This record gives sequence, C-alpha cells and structure tokens, in this order.
Amino acid sequence: MTDVRESMYLVSEFAAKYFQDVLVNSEEGKAIGLSYFKERGFTNETIKKFSLGYSPETWDALTKEALGKGYKMEFLEGTGLTIAREDRPFDRFKGRVMFPIQSMSGRVLGFGGRILTNDKKAAKYLNSPESDIYHKSKVLYGIYQAKQSIAKNNNCYLVEGYTDVIQFHQAGIENVVASSGTALTPDQIRLINRLTRNITVLFDGDAAGLRASIRGIDLILEEGMNVRVCSFPDGEDPDSFARKNSHDELVAYLENNSKDFIQFKASILMGEAKNDPIRKADLIRDMVVSISKIPDRIQREVYIQECARIMDISEQVLVSTLAQLIQKDI
Ligand code: CTP
Ligand code: MN
Ligand code: MN
Ligand code: MN
Ligand code: MN
Repeated sequence: MTDVRESMYLVSEFAAKYFQDVLVNSEEGKAIGLSYFKERGFTNETIKKFSLGYSPETWDALTKEALGKGYKMEFLEGTGLTIAREDRPFDRFKGRVMFPIQSMSGRVLGFGGRILTNDKKAAKYLNSPESDIYHKSKVLYGIYQAKQSIAKNNNCYLVEGYTDVIQFHQAGIENVVASSGTALTPDQIRLINRLTRNITVLFDGDAAGLRASIRGIDLILEEGMNVRVCSFPDGEDPDSFARKNSHDELVAYLENNSKDFIQFKASILMGEAKNDPIRKADLIRDMVVSISKIPDRIQREVYIQECARIMDISEQVLVSTLAQLIQKDI
C-alpha cells in the first residue's frame, strides 16, 4: 500500500463521515437530505448501513472542513472530492445526497451523489472520477454489505442502481449488488465469482435495461458462471417494485420470474421473431453465440439440447453452428 493511496482512502473516509454527520445533525442536512431519503422510504437503520450522507450547498464546505483537519488539498483533488478552479476550489458534490462506494473490505473508494430536484438538464447522478483508488469498472456498489449473504445464498442479484440495492436490503434481500449504470465488466463479474458461481440479472423494465442485460449475459457465461435473468414490469425498476410489494410478494416474484438465460433469450427473441423465418434464424445464431461462450464442454452440450427443444430445431444444426463459432475463436 503506497502512502498516496492510503491518504486517498483516509480523506474519502473522512468525507463519508462528514456527509453522514451533516445529514443527521445539521438543519440543512435534515431539511433537505434526510427528508429526501425518508420520502424514498429509507429507514434510519438503512441510512446507517449504507453510510448515506448529504453534501451541503455551500461552495466549499467539505474542502474547508477537511483542510482544517489537516487533510491535504492534493488528496482532496486526487479523489475528485474537490475541484480545483484557479484559487477558488469547490466541492464536487455540493447540494447532493451521497452514496459512498465501498470495496469488498469496506474501504471508501468513491461516491455517487444524487441531485434532489427533478431537473432534467442536470445529471441525476454525479460519480467520483477515476483515480488511484477508484476504478469504476472494478467496483460493485453494495458488495461490502452483500458479501456474506451472497455466499450464504450461493447467488447474487445484479441490479442497475444504488437505490435498487438499498431497497432490496430493506425488503430483506441482501445478496444484491449494482453495476451502477455502466456496462458490466469482466472484473466486476470476477468479484462476484469469488463468492458464488450464480448470478441473477435483474434489469429495469425499459429498453435500455433489456439491452444492458443481454450484453451482460455473454460476459457472465464467458467467466464460466451460471446466469439467470428476471425482468420487471414496464416502467418499474427493482427499487420501485420492492417498494410497492411486500417481502413475500417480492420473493415470490423473483422465484416465479427468474429464467435460465436460454429460456429468457428464447422468450424475448421469439416474441420479436414471430413467424419470420429469417429473424428466427438470426435469433438461433444469437443463442448459439451465447452458448459458445461457455467454457465447459459438457455444459455447452446440455444447453444445445435445451436450445433445440425450445426452438424446435434439430440438435445437429446447432452443433455444427457451434462448431463453426468455436473454430473461429481459436
Ligand atoms: N447513473 C449515473 N449517472 C446518471 C444516471 C445513472 O451514474 N446520470 C447510474 C447510477 O448508478 C444509477 C444507475 O446508473 O443508480 C441506474 O440508473 P437509473 O435507472 O436511471 O437510476 P436509478 O438507480 O433508478 O435512480 P433513481 O431511482 O434515484 O432515479
Ligand atoms: Mn489502481
Ligand atoms: Mn434505468
Ligand atoms: Mn433505475
Ligand atoms: Mn429508480
């Protein structure tokens, strides 16, 4: 551990504590930040569990406080907490509610900050920039709070957003992490792979969510892991759905709607292809591409059989298509 990185962790941890303190102890924090979280249905326990906070509107409140406590400008800037502008540095996250992003071992790596208004022109979430301690392609939001439950349940729910993770915890489902709106990466999948070989992808009920989940599937298969997929009704995300339903209803929904990736792909793509033979041929190739990503040969074979059955097509055709694809890979 270099001194630079340790100093960056320390200033990030100071900032997280400061934002938490402001949220629950200052008038501004209570009136704006805390009431926002309460409106979203977060309990005090949840707010503590995820170390949620609030960054004051003031131009440089955090920066001043940190400098006063002896933290160095170099590390405030290095973590992106402070943005240098001539001789008047300011707080990147001012006026936002704060979601600290923690490592598997609980260290604070960076932050997501949400605006409180529904101003469509401003970015809804602002995130820490890439730094020596924060690499967005290598972190999963919630992994620290989820790791024990993922191992115990031998499954990990993968969602898109911060609030999806948080609302699931409140609904009693703790084996959940978020890719935080970025396309899933192999590093993120390997993080989960240390705890379980099973991932259930839960995506927002919109077109963007569907596309993201389809891209994610092949990457997960490539890591030799098992993928299930569960979609939500149109316009709902895991957060909004969990809020509208009881714990038992949520558990039942996940149980009844999680499908193995091959059934999932078949059902959505079949809907698109209907009776168009050309589209159907495309989709069969698409499914075989996914199957070709699976490293284990026996598992590939099982999926070929399953695919043949679902698509009502001969195994022989699938096997030869698969052979071509695997040949190309070499
Ligand atoms: N995201 C981001 N920057 C944005 C929009 C989204 O970083 N401008 C990331 C956030 O991590 C967010 C995730 O993508 O949690 C999913 O985006 P979205 O579904 O739009 O947001 P929600 O998580 O549903 O946020 P909320 O419920 O607070 O509106
Ligand atoms: Mn690094
Ligand atoms: Mn979304
Ligand atoms: Mn969402
Ligand atoms: Mn949401």
